[in-house]
Amino acid sequence: LTKIAGYEVHPAAELFPLLRGAEFDKLVASIKADGLLHPLVVHRGVLLDGRNRALACQKAGVKPGIEKYDGDTSEDGIERWIVSTNLRRRHLNESQRGIIGARIKKREAERAAKRRGKRTDLVKNSSPSRDAGKARDKAAEQVNVSGYTVDAAEKVIDRGVPELVAACEDGDLAVSAAARLAGRPAEDQRAALEKINSGEARNVFQAVRQVDLKKQLDAAPKIETPQHRVLHGDAIALLREHAPRAHCVVTDPPYGLSTHRTREGGHDYADGEEYAVDTLRAVCAELSKCVDPSAHLYFFAGYGLLGIAAYKVIAEFFDVQLNPLVWVKDNHTMCDFTKWYASKYEHVIFAKVRGSERRLSTHLPVADVLSVRRERDSTHSAQKPVDLLRHFIERSTAPGELVLDPFCGSGSTGVAAAETGREFIGFEVEEKWVEVARARIAGGDRAA
Ligand SMILES: C[S@@+](CC[C@H](N)C(=O)[O-])C[C@H]1O[C@@H](n2cnc3c(N)ncnc32)[C@H](O)[C@@H]1O
Repeated sequence: LTKIAGYEVHPAAELFPLLRGAEFDKLVASIKADGLLHPLVVHRGVLLDGRNRALACQKAGVKPGIEKYDGDTSEDGIERWIVSTNLRRRHLNESQRGIIGARIKKREAERAAKRRGKRTDLVKNSSPSRDAGKARDKAAEQVNVSGYTVDAAEKVIDRGVPELVAACEDGDLAVSAAARLAGRPAEDQRAALEKINSGEARNVFQAVRQVDLKKQLDAAPKIETPQHRVLHGDAIALLREHAPRAHCVVTDPPYGLSTHRTREGGHDYADGEEYAVDTLRAVCAELSKCVDPSAHLYFFAGYGLLGIAAYKVIAEFFDVQLNPLVWVKDNHTMCDFTKWYASKYEHVIFAKVRGSERRLSTHLPVADVLSVRRERDSTHSAQKPVDLLRHFIERSTAPGELVLDPFCGSGSTGVAAAETGREFIGFEVEEKWVEVARARIAGGDRAA
């Protein structure tokens, strides 16, 4: 038996974590001020309840009162009393109770194994897996959680780093979320926890994604090939400075839009439209000065009214196909399904430099509706599928020609250009995305 403040402690009491930090200091201060309100509970010299109080009394220099246990003295009875007393007194959430349940289960399974070892006649009626199942259900019932929570907590205890277990014990992290982290390498678990604690990630999913992305970025070769360049800076300034003579522009400008409900119950675009339109106009003006006289241009234009606004601006500078291309996605926008149709597409406006002789490289008609799944595990919130971008690039350019994306985000257009043997130049104003784009293009990794 382990000892705490001079007392031997019942193993079942150790199922519960000790108070830490401020909580423990509060207990010490209260004992100093008012004395110990609840005596320690002892049975045959063993401490059943009051580890924190014993430690706090020691620190406060107060002699604790002691009370004899007068309940059921069977092994099971004592354990049940310890568990229920602690659960009643402490306000533990489901995950905290799950961790305790998993520890109870382990003890129960160990006892069953011992019993099997001693009693050969029990072997017929019991098996380790049946014992484990029974132990799990018994533990789950004792701490009032589901068997699933106990399983998740067990995974956290068995495969989690101590910090992960502590986060669940302290009630800061749900065991179901922690269990997803628990199987990963220790350094990943710690890095993900840091991201959650610092607020960089809102949940375990995000944290894991950020950790994976960082690993990929660290591992990717940092060399920028002269054929595939991503430059950091403002699109308009860089267009003026580099004036790339691109054969094809494939871009997804920052519309910065969100919709809001009008008073009449319809939808309208919120702030950002003016900025978006001005930016698009300035970029088109620069593009019209520098791109190849035969160039084709593809502009993603969201859905609905936005496509019309973008269409008008682009048409000021280029010949625009009247029917916008329609990218059909495999998911749809959220909306009130009883009042509005959910949108499952985005417009892509196809344009050419006025007088361009460039043809679409196919002998068959190319339909203006394209169904392509969204990228799984995308990192950029507006990430576009590489397959769709490849489709545009292959229709409009020959290998070796130059593709430009002045708003390249995570570099999807660059990945598509590299995959199809085209040259690429991209601009991006946010440094973080410049790095991601470079790494994806260099690594040929679509899912970064
Ligand atoms: C809609 S996202 C493009 C996402 C990209 N299609 C992808 O698959 O990742 C637009 C990008 O333009 C960048 N951006 C916004 N204003 C910019 C500017 N003035 N110059 C360059 N990049 C800009 C944003 O940071 C954002 O990453």
